[in-house]
Amino acid sequence: MAEAESSCSDSRWSLKGATALVTGGTLGIGYAIVEELAGMGATVHTCARTESKLNDRLRDWNAKGFDVRGSVCDVSDRAQREQLIEKVSSGFNGKLNILINNVGTNFSKPTIGYTVADFSTLIATNIESAYHLSQLAHPLLKASGAGSIVFISSVAGVVSTGTGSIYAATKAAMNQITKSLACEWAKDNIRSNCVAPFCIRTPLIEHVIFFLSCS
Ligand SMILES: NC(=O)c1ccc[n+]([C@@H]2O[C@H](COP(=O)([O-])OP(=O)(O)OC[C@H]3O[C@@H](n4cnc5c(N)ncnc54)[C@H](OP(=O)(O)O)[C@@H]3O)[C@@H](O)[C@H]2O)c1
Repeated sequence: MAEAESSCSDSRWSLKGATALVTGGTLGIGYAIVEELAGMGATVHTCARTESKLNDRLRDWNAKGFDVRGSVCDVSDRAQREQLIEKVSSGFNGKLNILINNVGTNFSKPTIGYTVADFSTLIATNIESAYHLSQLAHPLLKASGAGSIVFISSVAGVVSTGTGSIYAATKAAMNQITKSLACEWAKDNIRSNCVAPFCIRTPLIEHVIFFLSCS
């Protein structure tokens, strides 16, 4: 009985043979997600803007025996998103099981202090990227026969946390997009879920962590 339980549990939690794209995998939450997926046997593609950091991470992961590939991409740029998915498609033979829309950024200001450029940057980085990457990845996720999208949102998309009204709006939009895709793409065997963390000690919030009194 113990043996049966153990083998059932092993196969349930293995991602051997699965493919995944994790945006922003060189630091913070994205880094932890890459490690977890690769540790469970998935082949992972990740991206970030800083080439030197990406190369360091890829070297470390490969030394651990993980199958992690990567490419430089600024996900706030439409053309670069298209190039990213082309790379993923050719590397994974047109099939993707898991898309983790992790990249997000923030700069907190009073609402009347935000500029047009601030608005565009936060919308492009946090929500347009995730929406467009999901659109681009749809045929690959469908072709896998078992697709899954995970959006990394925030509690700031549900309640007011004082982190900035634009950031909060992008995360609230993400929560609703998750629901829309979950219903629209279920017929294609693509699940859509959202994780909404509170404070996680990462470079993104290191400078405000004492102010927020959380860790
Ligand atoms: N940390 C928290 O407490 C917290 C709480 C709630 C939600 N979240 C959410 O969790 C997600 C990850 O946050 P984090 O704290 O792990 O962030 P982080 O520590 O700042 O790491 C961000 C990662 O994304 C990459 N990145 C940033 N902008 C990018 C862009 N335009 N294109 C491509 N890659 C980009 C970064 O590398 P490069 O800089 O080299 O591009 C890095 O690998 C975000 O969506 C954030 O909103 C975080």
